[in-house]
Amino acid sequence: MTIRPPIAMLAELTHRCPLSCPYCSNPVELARTETELPTEDWVRVFGEAAELGVLQLHLSGGEPASRRNLAELVRAARAAGLYTNLITSGIGLTEARLRELDAAGLDHIQLSLQGTDAEMADAIGGYRGGFMRKMQVAGWIKAIGFPLTLNTVLHRRNLHQLPRALEMAEEMGARRIEVATVQFHGWALKNRDALMPTREQAKEATRIVAEARARLKGRLVVDYVPADYHSDYPKRCMGGWGTTGLNVAPDGTVLPCHAAQTIPHLTFENVRDKPLSEIWYQSPAFNAYRGTGWMPEPCQSCDRREADFGGCRCQAMALAGDAGATDPVCIKSPHHAALQARAAAHAEGPDALIYRIAPGKPLPLIAGAATGSEARPAERIAAENS
Ligand code: SF4
Ligand code: FES
Repeated sequence: MTIRPPIAMLAELTHRCPLSCPYCSNPVELARTETELPTEDWVRVFGEAAELGVLQLHLSGGEPASRRNLAELVRAARAAGLYTNLITSGIGLTEARLRELDAAGLDHIQLSLQGTDAEMADAIGGYRGGFMRKMQVAGWIKAIGFPLTLNTVLHRRNLHQLPRALEMAEEMGARRIEVATVQFHGWALKNRDALMPTREQAKEATRIVAEARARLKGRLVVDYVPADYHSDYPKRCMGGWGTTGLNVAPDGTVLPCHAAQTIPHLTFENVRDKPLSEIWYQSPAFNAYRGTGWMPEPCQSCDRREADFGGCRCQAMALAGDAGATDPVCIKSPHHAALQARAAAHAEGPDALIYRIAPGKPLPLIAGAATGSEARPAERIAAENS
């Protein structure tokens, strides 16, 4: 098969993050600060990415604003000819910093929204005062004139806020909103009981999105990731393994997707050791699930095989115990019925959230919160806000 160059690269600049979202898709074991790629390596990698054919660079994390030299990285990426998008919670950005990023050539900002009011947003992000700060950042983004995408992760607790999230995107002057139902990878797998939407909620979200797309046509683009545990066909994850994009983890490991390290038999290369193009074209990990040759039945003879490439490899690993299996979300998978039953059970599970708290990370803004990864009642954070 012909391997085409990637279009997009996600640079996970750090796993450090001020928020503690229970649906964090980063790995359960985070990259430690001292293992993060230094600036000069990132600058080299941006050049290699541009040479390889990458057009869009998504600067992500953790919270990329936790890297103090973010503007320097943006400047280097622009100098390499890459379109730069900052994926941020907004926490850690000031007006001065945003103006510095503008001067450095930042092209676009994607701002996350944990809820449409302080009570919800701060309880989900585990960061008291976070919503207020985010609204301030949204105002500066609008004033400076950055093109904006609002990104909201929906789950059982906040799905009812979808109509307000759509309104907020318009008010903020966003060109696009990404409405993503929670995906269960990384830390999020620990919170399926608390976050799984009901089937009715998932249907209602699909209806609201369809109505909004028609109403807002030409004003606001609405991207939508439905609740896949309640779906009958899987998503085309990452546009197809090794097809359109790659991720570089904070320590320089190059991955076909953010959860790829959950597939135990694959070994991933590092930009410290090999050029990016060699990793993209030749590494066994990137070639493992490219195209359709690796597919088992029922995918192999299915007429959708080039539409969804058999779904998500990491989800097949997590749910079927085999990364080479048909994604259990698919109605043709032998695991589909069990998955749907599990989804219904999770949707009635207990509400307690297990927050993402890196060991030793201080929680200065949540009074009384314990460190570690134990559940802390969201209600307490909500009460502190009121
Ligand atoms: Fe996609 Fe495989 Fe299901 Fe066909 S059988 S719809 S290719 S996941
Ligand atoms: Fe890894 Fe879908 S998250 S292939």
